[in-house]
Amino acid sequence: MLIRLDHIAIAVPDLEEAIQRFARDLGLELSGREDVEAAKTSTAFFPVPGTKLELVHPLRGEGPIAKYLEKKGGGLHHLCFETDDITGDVARLQGLGYRFLSDGPVPGAHGKRVIFIHPKDTGGVLIELAQSQD
Ligand code: CO
Repeated sequence: MLIRLDHIAIAVPDLEEAIQRFARDLGLELSGREDVEAAKTSTAFFPVPGTKLELVHPLRGEGPIAKYLEKKGGGLHHLCFETDDITGDVARLQGLGYRFLSDGPVPGAHGKRVIFIHPKDTGGVLIELAQSQD
């Protein structure tokens, strides 16, 4: 079951510049940075009550975010919902005809297991499901 909006991810062509914008100009607090090898992303997190913004940038210039930036030049990339049962949610949604971008959950930021629903099945919005390991 989906239990909360975990984060909103924004793809950025220049991570340092974007961090400055959200931290210095907009006054949000940078809570951490993490390179996620499995997703080929370099990320930065800004908590806001109940959720957080996540800036995503290609790690070593590779991966899906690099392709997204080439095509769109940056912008709102995905929404992520936390779930307490990722396996059950994937099975239920597959039963309803939803497709996913991987065969099963993969390692994401913060040690979570994550999976993305195919945006063609969600009206063009890329949606990530994430479950904490604990
Ligand atoms: Co995400």
